[in-house]
Amino acid sequence: MKKQLLKLAACGLLLASVNAYAQTPTKTFVVKAGEVKAPIQSTMWGVFFEDINFGADGGIYAELVKNRSFEFSKPMMGWTIQRKEFKEGDVLVLNRQQTNTANPRFIRVTATNAEKGSLSLTNEGFRGIGIKKDLRYDFSVMYRQQTPGVKLNVELINAKGDVIGSTVVNPEASASDWKKATVSFLATATEPNGKFRISFEGNGVIDLDMISLFPEDTWKGRPGGMRADMIQMLADMKPGFIRFPGGCIVEGFDLSQRYQWKKTIGPVEERQLSINRWNFEFAHRPAPDYFQTFGLGFFEYFQLAEDIGAEPLPILNCGMSCQFNTAEVVPLDQLGPYVQDALDLIEFANGDVNSTWGKKRAELGHPAPFNLKMLGVGNENWGPQYVERLKIFTKAIKEKYPDIKIVNSSGTDPNGDRFDYLNTSLRSMKADIIDEHYYRRPEWFLQNAKRYDQYDRNGSKVFAGEYAAQSDKTVSVNNRNNWLTALSEAAFMTGLERNADVVFMASYAPLFAHAEGWQWTPDLIWVDNLNVIGSANYQVQKLYSINKGTHVVPMLLKNEAIAGQDSLYASASLDKNTNDIILKVVNASGKEQQSEITLEGVKKLAGKATLYQLSSEELDKVNTLGNPPSIAPVEKQLSLKGKKMKLSLAPYSFSVVRVKM
Ligand code: AHR
Repeated sequence: MKKQLLKLAACGLLLASVNAYAQTPTKTFVVKAGEVKAPIQSTMWGVFFEDINFGADGGIYAELVKNRSFEFSKPMMGWTIQRKEFKEGDVLVLNRQQTNTANPRFIRVTATNAEKGSLSLTNEGFRGIGIKKDLRYDFSVMYRQQTPGVKLNVELINAKGDVIGSTVVNPEASASDWKKATVSFLATATEPNGKFRISFEGNGVIDLDMISLFPEDTWKGRPGGMRADMIQMLADMKPGFIRFPGGCIVEGFDLSQRYQWKKTIGPVEERQLSINRWNFEFAHRPAPDYFQTFGLGFFEYFQLAEDIGAEPLPILNCGMSCQFNTAEVVPLDQLGPYVQDALDLIEFANGDVNSTWGKKRAELGHPAPFNLKMLGVGNENWGPQYVERLKIFTKAIKEKYPDIKIVNSSGTDPNGDRFDYLNTSLRSMKADIIDEHYYRRPEWFLQNAKRYDQYDRNGSKVFAGEYAAQSDKTVSVNNRNNWLTALSEAAFMTGLERNADVVFMASYAPLFAHAEGWQWTPDLIWVDNLNVIGSANYQVQKLYSINKGTHVVPMLLKNEAIAGQDSLYASASLDKNTNDIILKVVNASGKEQQSEITLEGVKKLAGKATLYQLSSEELDKVNTLGNPPSIAPVEKQLSLKGKKMKLSLAPYSFSVVRVKM
C-alpha cells in the first residue's frame, strides 16, 4: 500500500493522498435536488466501435474461417494444404478479375483417387478457432463443378489434431454454375484453439469460394451474424449511441483504402475486401493477416444499433486519408462523390422504401427507417483542408436534411495549435457537435475534471468521442486497463455529467481487443476465442451508462462543485423516469473518507438508497480473461435519516448511489 502511494506521489498524482493515514474530517456534501439543471441527453454515454484489435473480423463478426474467399494479399494465407502425394496444380488459385472485381479469386481442387485424408485444406481461424461442445456449427461453401466426383469431408479439429465434429457434403453433380451448399453439424468437445479442415475424397475437379463456418449461437440467432457474448457486453451497457465504423479505418492509409459504406452492403460474396489499416500501422504490433471482409457492413451496424437501443452514429470519410500516413486529399472539385455518399447514406437509413437507397434497405430486410439523426464527417482530420471540405459537406447535408446533426472533428488532441484552430473555426461555423479525443495519462483526467465548466453554454456541443487513460503513454504496448486508469476516468466523467448542457455524448476507445491479436491497448473489453471480460474501465462506463439520470442537479462541497478537493470528485442527477436521485462520487485518495450527504429541495425520501461501489487499494489491478472480474461493483443498501445519509468512501473508490424519492 505504502509503495503504491509513493509511486503515485512520484508521478505527481493524487497529491492529497500522500498523507494517507491522516484522518480527514467528514465531508458535508449538499445535493440541491430541487434545482433541476440541464437535461442529460439520452445519447450521453455510448460506445465507439472500430475494426481494430480484431474487433470485427475475428471479433464480433462471428465468421470462424480466415480468408474464406482467398482475397488476402497472399491468397492462401490462413490455409494449409496437406497432401500425401504432390501433384502439380491440384489446388489452384484462379483470378477472374475481368468479370468479378469484388470477389476475383476462387480455388480449383483436382482430386485423383483421393481417399479421406490424402488431400485436405486446413484453416487456422483467427488466432485459432474457439469450439464449444454440443454447439452446432453452420458450414457453407460456394462451389461449381468442373468434373463431378469429389465429396467434401468437413471437420473441426482440436489442438491435438483429433476430430471433434464432422459432416460430409456431396456437391450436386449438375452444378455447372456457382451454387451454395450449407450444412450444420455438432461439435463434440470444447477447444479454445481449434482448426477447421476440408478433406477431399474421390475423383474430380471442383471450384470453391466463400468457405465459411459460423457458430449457431450468434447474436439473436442470425445466420452469418455476430458473436453473441461480445454483443451482450454492449447491450448490458445500454449505450445511448454507437459510433462506427471508426476511427482511422474510415480515413484509410490512403484514399484507395478508405472505408466506403456502399461496398459493405448486399450479398457478402459481393462485398469487396480491403486491407485493414491496422494490418501494418504499428511495426511493433504487425498483423499481416488483418483484412476487412465487410461481412459486418453498414446494414449490420444499423441493425446492431437498433438491437441494443443505441442511436447510430456513422462516420464517413471527408475526402482526406489519414494525415499521419499519406495525407492524401481529394481535390475540391472532385469531392462530389464523397458528399453524395453521405446524402445516400441518409437516404439508406431514413428514406422511403420507394427512394433509391430506402428501397435497398427494404430489400435487405428492413423496410422501416433506422431513424438516423446524426452523422460524422471525418474522423481525426485537421487543418484548413478539413474545414474547406467540411463546409461543402455541411452545406449539402443541411440543404437536404436540415435536421441531421453533423459531428465534426477537432483533430487528434484536446489542446495545441491544431485543436485551437479547429475549435475556433468550427464554433464560428456554428458546428452542431465537436468531437474531442483524449488519450492521456490518469493525472490528465483528474486535472481536467473541470475542463467543460468554462465552455460556452450556447455554442457547439461536445462529443468526447474517444478517450482512455493511458497507464504508460499513447500507443505504448505497456498500457494496462488497470484500476487507476478506470478510477481517473470515473473522476473525469463527473465533469462530463456536471456539464451535460455542453457535453452531449461520450465514448471510451477502443472498444474491443483480442488477447492474441491486438494492436492498441488499453481497450474496454478483452476477448479470446471463447471468453469475454469487461475491464475495470468497462465497469465504470457501464455504471455511468445504466445510472444516467435525465437531468443534472448540483452536488456541492462548501458551495463549490466537487472536482478534486481532497481527491474527491462528484456529480449528481435526477432520473425523472424512476424518480431517483443518482450520485456519483470518486475518492481518488488512498484513505477512506467519510461523507454526510444532505438532499435539499425534495419533499419526501423513501428512506432507502442503493450503493454500487467499485474499489481496490491495488491501483494496478486488472480484470483478466477466464476469471471473474476482480474489479466489479459491490451492492449495498444504505439508509437515510430524514434527508441525510452517511456514505463511507473506500480508498480509491467509485460509488454510485441511487436514492429513491
Ligand atoms: O482508437 C484508436 C484510434 O485512435 C482511432 O482509430 C483513432 O481515431 C485514434 O487515433
